[in-house]
Amino acid sequence: MAELERAAARYRERDASAALTGFWSLRNPAVLHVAQERERVALQLLAAAGIELAALRVLDVGCGFGLEFTSLLRWGVRGQTLVGIDLMHERLRVARGHSPALLVQGSGTALPFPDACFDLVTQNVVFSSIVDPAARRASAAEMLRVLRPGGWLLWYDAFRTRARDPHFRAVPRSEVEALFPGVAWRWRRLTCDIGIAARLRRVPGALALLDASGLACTHLMGLGRRP
Ligand SMILES: C[S@@+](CC[C@H](N)C(=O)[O-])C[C@H]1O[C@@H](n2cnc3c(N)ncnc32)[C@H](O)[C@@H]1O
Repeated sequence: MAELERAAARYRERDASAALTGFWSLRNPAVLHVAQERERVALQLLAAAGIELAALRVLDVGCGFGLEFTSLLRWGVRGQTLVGIDLMHERLRVARGHSPALLVQGSGTALPFPDACFDLVTQNVVFSSIVDPAARRASAAEMLRVLRPGGWLLWYDAFRTRARDPHFRAVPRSEVEALFPGVAWRWRRLTCDIGIAARLRRVPGALALLDASGLACTHLMGLGRRP
């Protein structure tokens, strides 16, 4: 419980900061750059696996304001089969204002859904907000429990960070693989360190070069399949 209260308090504090909200807006060219790259990589992974999103029941764990719903709907997921869950009712209220998804307040550590009822379960920068190892294990076990055999996991999170933030813990690939035993993953490294991207955003071609080198990547996207 302490872990859930800590996470909710941290996000309440973040959401009250105009500076942080302004920085993470798509109007920031560095943020737009990494968001567009993330979308390209997700679509490449999904297409390579031959996944037809219109047919899938999808759960987004830690959906927050529902920003990822916009992408999922654009990629073909249907509103009636899209479900989001988040700890924070304040964030869900905003998500409700723009999304047809079914939205549930609750914790990833105890998902209020039956076994094997989703075809695709996603998490987008949520595990790096869960600093307690037991809560991480419980959330991963729950994601697997609600996923049908042969269903898909779409993972996006930091595998390393330069930030010194007690509320943020990167999740290396070895840890993700241990959290989801038996899942076969395809991995891509992406997302230039946002501090570096923000400094280089006005240098023509610099971000594309940095992406191609992979040197400053901080995140992993993985498409995994439950056996
Ligand atoms: C960095 S935000 C990402 C939000 C969203 N996935 C996105 O990409 O815009 C992390 C979100 O995870 C939620 N969260 C953290 N721990 C959680 C938990 N145990 N169960 C459900 N949601 C959680 C927070 O409330 C917050 O909305």
